[in-house]
Amino acid sequence: MNRRIEVKISLEVIPNEFWTDEESMLIARAKEILESAYAPYSGFLVGAALLLENGEVFAGNNQENVSFPVGICAERAVLSYVMGNFPNLKPVKIAIAAKRMGETGYAYVTPCGMCRQTINEYEMKFGNPIEILMLNGQGEILKAESIEQLLPFRFNNLNS
Ligand code: THU
Repeated sequence: MNRRIEVKISLEVIPNEFWTDEESMLIARAKEILESAYAPYSGFLVGAALLLENGEVFAGNNQENVSFPVGICAERAVLSYVMGNFPNLKPVKIAIAAKRMGETGYAYVTPCGMCRQTINEYEMKFGNPIEILMLNGQGEILKAESIEQLLPFRFNNLNS
């Protein structure tokens, strides 16, 4: 007989007045770096700020290409740089913000599938959850405690 597996996912929604100082700082860094994104094809500017276990924060943005698939998302841009340069420093949080070119308000953004799989990789590497803070269009943070919430049934074992 067929069975059904159910996965329950929940994200915390944090209104602006309840952001911690650290959350405010990370979202501010993501908002700042998105302004330098190179997104002439989509006009969708994304910034990501990555907090490491030692308190350091690095930021990255999306870099597009005339050959569309060559472009890279903000999340993978910052993760590749940081994990390449500081391979032993555990990433603990990533904040993401986005804006449409020419608009003043922020756009709702969640990481794409490839970025989710990339975040999953570094959770696995360090055996530690990475918190994902996503800015929505109402100025609230959607918080996932781990990539597990955004990537159920994730692929993380070649041998199982
Ligand atoms: N993008 C990101 O950089 N991060 C996301 O979380 C969503 C999408 C970029 C990819 C592309 O340059 C543009 O946004 C539109 O998809």
